[in-house]
Amino acid sequence: MMSVRLARGIFKKIPIRNYSRAPCEIIEILESGFETLAQSKSQSLLKKHLTQEIFDKIKTRVTPSYCSTLLDCIQSGLCNHDSGVGIYAPDPEAYSTFAELFDPIIDDYHMGFKGADKHPATCFGYGSDFPNLDPEQRFIVSTRIRCARSIKDFPFNPCLTKKDYRHLECMINKVLKTLCNEHSGKFMALSCMEKEEQQQLIDDHLLFKEGDRFLQDANASRFWPTGRGIFINQNRTFIVWVNEEDHIRVISMEKGGDLGRAYERMIIGVESLAHSLKFSHDKRLGYLTFCPSNLGTTIRASVHIKLPNLGADKAKLEEVAKKHNLQVRGTSGEHSEAKDGVYDISNKRRLGLTEYQVVMEMHKGITALIDAECQAGSQK
Ligand code: ARG
Repeated sequence: MMSVRLARGIFKKIPIRNYSRAPCEIIEILESGFETLAQSKSQSLLKKHLTQEIFDKIKTRVTPSYCSTLLDCIQSGLCNHDSGVGIYAPDPEAYSTFAELFDPIIDDYHMGFKGADKHPATCFGYGSDFPNLDPEQRFIVSTRIRCARSIKDFPFNPCLTKKDYRHLECMINKVLKTLCNEHSGKFMALSCMEKEEQQQLIDDHLLFKEGDRFLQDANASRFWPTGRGIFINQNRTFIVWVNEEDHIRVISMEKGGDLGRAYERMIIGVESLAHSLKFSHDKRLGYLTFCPSNLGTTIRASVHIKLPNLGADKAKLEEVAKKHNLQVRGTSGEHSEAKDGVYDISNKRRLGLTEYQVVMEMHKGITALIDAECQAGSQK
């Protein structure tokens, strides 16, 4: 540990992680990584927005409390040219220290959120505002909705010590134990889980996968599996991930298309946690997360959906999805392929609109997609 001066007379103990590499070595790695990325065919938002001018301006900066460098933010994108985004915030201050780079990426990903824009106040609305998307159960296999929370006064993955991971796990687990009724369940630490049990939960789409190279290269998997775990209720409809990409992911699932029911359960879950835990929140960016794609509401509402006709023409599917601000992923989520014509489709933006508006955007989009599927079917 070393002490850093935060302001006159105020010192804070921080881990010396960023001093394991000399500043000149960091700049050298950055320079060569930047050059390789610039010459690559990468489609990432990092490549698009990291201009020479911005790079030169911010390459020597560090965040005030944790001394996180630009390399800590972008090494995942430098190592993985197939990234969609390519940047993470190692600690909450990175969003302001490296604002010249984060801001345009945030604006681009969330489809219009300028440096002067402010995320609106939380407004969930009610689950009952959202009718079942597929009452006849013809298309939607399952519906899932999640949000993320970070615990106030803790940095994100790359800056957490082994002790921090244990501390966070303990704090979160204590609160999870107080959940009642439908939300009550049990916590399983990853370190105590049998491999087969872990794989079964992954196959059932309940648990996160291990060894995500994007997270690993962002230094987000250190001390794995320490502090990582999953909380599951009896019906396996309410799940909380602890210390995966974010400190907390609150997940609610339903078979079929009852988005409203899943949403209501998620709201009650996250609001119950908020009674006892303080979350990292920013006036401008809303709830803070490790990845800029999750800022704001942090909500991702998705369906596993069969689109045999529309899916036969991937370009057409992408076109309809894009029109409604939806994102198309493969069956096992991010960076995966669709199996048996089942797609994972969700809202794309999460920042700059309320929770209610995010879920409404997804509801309208999925409804339009089902209409397009029916139309494509009737034209055959
Ligand atoms: N860093 C990865 C990429 O750029 C993931 C980005 C969004 N997904 C996420 N799980 N944060 O492709």
